[in-house]
Amino acid sequence: MKAEIMGQAAFITGAAGGIGRALALALASRGVQVTVLDLKTAMGKETVRLVEEQHATISYKPTSPSAIFIHCDVTKPDELAAAFARHHEVFGRLDIFINNAGIGGGEPFYDGADWRKVIDVNLVAVIEGTSKAIQAMKDQGGLILNVASASSIVPTPYLPVYSASKAGVAMFTRSIAHIGMGIRVKTICAEVQRNWLMEPIKGI
Ligand SMILES: NC(=O)c1ccc[n+]([C@@H]2O[C@H](COP(=O)([O-])OP(=O)(O)OC[C@H]3O[C@@H](n4cnc5c(N)ncnc54)[C@H](O)[C@@H]3O)[C@@H](O)[C@H]2O)c1
Repeated sequence: MKAEIMGQAAFITGAAGGIGRALALALASRGVQVTVLDLKTAMGKETVRLVEEQHATISYKPTSPSAIFIHCDVTKPDELAAAFARHHEVFGRLDIFINNAGIGGGEPFYDGADWRKVIDVNLVAVIEGTSKAIQAMKDQGGLILNVASASSIVPTPYLPVYSASKAGVAMFTRSIAHIGMGIRVKTICAEVQRNWLMEPIKGI
């Protein structure tokens, strides 16, 4: 039996498109309201519109907005803190937090590429976001979902820094799986979807 999540509030990083938007719409189809955080304003606002459309399809009429967009760089702790505050101001609760924002690149790491940025977005910001979500959930519980990758488990020769960052996400998540406070902390190790991850192997 599916858990009843209608009326809950979710917060998803990197939800302007791709997997983040798909997660936002899947939750919206079950009557969940969503904070859409991203750097891409136009696409983020489109996710908000699609969440509203999804709620209309299931005749769900929330008392607070169906969704809001927040422009934020997850690597900037002050911006992330302000985003959590804004989410709380609008929805008054945080039931589901999804650390989804992620980037590729940083290769070749031995040849001057900015590989630190990949670690900052994919791993450091995930730890920061998880810590803020725990603070928000510690009294009533909730779900934290950290999006890792098949690259967390299987070495990825053309994206070693990405692979290292995602391995960190998976092990960080597993290590706090029993943190208590009614908070479940999970990870998903997604297989390859068509996007920038494919760029380095185009033509192969
Ligand atoms: N697509 C795949 O094959 C695949 C496979 C495994 C895991 N993943 C992971 O899934 C997640 C989503 O990937 P996707 O395929 O949907 O990619 P995507 O590029 O469509 O989505 C990632 C989003 O994160 C946002 N983002 C990037 N840096 C940010 C920052 N500093 N602050 C805020 N937002 C930022 C981007 O603007 C983008 O909208 C990522 O963590 C990725 O590593 C993807």
